[in-house]
Amino acid sequence: MSGPKILAIIIWILRGAESNTWEIKMPPNIYAISGFCVQIPCQFEIHDSFKKYLNNSVEAIWRKTTTEGANVLSSHLFLKGNVIGNILNKNCTTVFHNFPAGFSDMYFFRLQGHEPLMYTFKQGVNITVHKDVPPPVLSPHVQVLEVLEGTKLTLTCSTVIACPSIQPLMQWNPQLGEQLTPALQEDEFGQTMMVSSQMFNATPLNDHLKVSCTLLYSQGAKRPVETIVLLRVLYAPKNTIAHVSPSGPVSEGSVVILSCHSDANPAVRRYEWYSDSGSGELVLQNQGQTLTIIARSNVQLLYVCKVYNNHGTDQSRPVAVGINSSQCSVALYIICGLLTLFLILITAVDLVKYKSLLKRLQEFEGMRGSMMYATLRRTSDSVYNVIQARDRRTEDDYENRNLSKHQLKTEP
Ligand SMILES: *[C@@H]1O[C@H](CO)[C@@H](O)[C@H](O)[C@H]1NC(C)=O
Ligand SMILES: *[C@@H]1O[C@H](CO)[C@@H](O)[C@H](O)[C@H]1NC(C)=O
Repeated sequence: MSGPKILAIIIWILRGAESNTWEIKMPPNIYAISGFCVQIPCQFEIHDSFKKYLNNSVEAIWRKTTTEGANVLSSHLFLKGNVIGNILNKNCTTVFHNFPAGFSDMYFFRLQGHEPLMYTFKQGVNITVHKDVPPPVLSPHVQVLEVLEGTKLTLTCSTVIACPSIQPLMQWNPQLGEQLTPALQEDEFGQTMMVSSQMFNATPLNDHLKVSCTLLYSQGAKRPVETIVLLRVLYAPKNTIAHVSPSGPVSEGSVVILSCHSDANPAVRRYEWYSDSGSGELVLQNQGQTLTIIARSNVQLLYVCKVYNNHGTDQSRPVAVGINSSQCSVALYIICGLLTLFLILITAVDLVKYKSLLKRLQEFEGMRGSMMYATLRRTSDSVYNVIQARDRRTEDDYENRNLSKHQLKTEP
């Protein structure tokens, strides 16, 4: 039981003890769903001098403004239901069964006892009947919830259940973290409430995320209803990068454009460009997302982009603007010259090698005649041997082999 509730009860008891007034405590408004029951939590207080007349023969009556004087509960023409509270305990809690459409009205409670205990309480309950179930209430009760990255968030979904015998299923989508199973509570007027919470830390990934709480009723063919909150997660700039265009070394006097990109929510409010003079000290050059510079050999070569939004700051890694200086070209020429020299040397060596190879080939050509004969003699002998080993096969085979042996022998 919550603090305010205990306090209310204490005040109620204190008042009751010294009561000299007629009072009734019930919800001022009840959202009824047609076809579902309606339970009215109700507690009353009567004037001290009437307490002796409060006994079992006192009738509990409900009236509505448009049927002056008639008891809507006891008549078959009106609503079906019964007072479930104990009148002797001044508990007038009442249930109306299958509340019909078109019965939206102000309802008043009346004690109908023996003379002089006949009293209609002045405060009534406004019951409005709806075809559809009410959407749940999300807390914080906003359409767009803006939070800082890392904030520990608790989203609470709740709905008043006017008919406690029909309870919906309460679901979160998506489920973002630790979740408390839906629990039943009582609101300040004693009405049943279903409450579910989920707790999570807001991350940049949750930005633009729609979180919904849905009520699903298995009875009464009611459509599921949902309430949505849109998350906006704010964060300081991150992943800040400075781009150089053109990216390679440039010749002196050419235009170089530096541009800065950063992930921030809300977007970056201010860009600052710093140059590093080489001493590690950053010197502010300019503001704006891009920085245009003319490449000069005496220009500082390292640039840093600093970004700001309402939630913090970030800076890029230093980027170098490379200048194709004359010193650099000389080095390049030297390397090129060395390479060319090397190439010429290799070619010369190859030429000498080629000439000696040619000479050897010519010498070889002279020896060729005699060598060829010797080779073939050896070859034909071995073929003959093979045929000798296989000659018991077919005549054809023998003929062919013989022929080839003959040819080989005569060829030189
Ligand atoms: C209730 O009180 C009234 C008036 O005092 C009395 O006439 C009646 O008989 C009582 N009824 C019961 C059931 O005690
Ligand atoms: C009144 O009666 C209802 C139904 O029996 C019960 O749920 C509720 O707790 C009672 N109220 C009080 C204040 O005793």
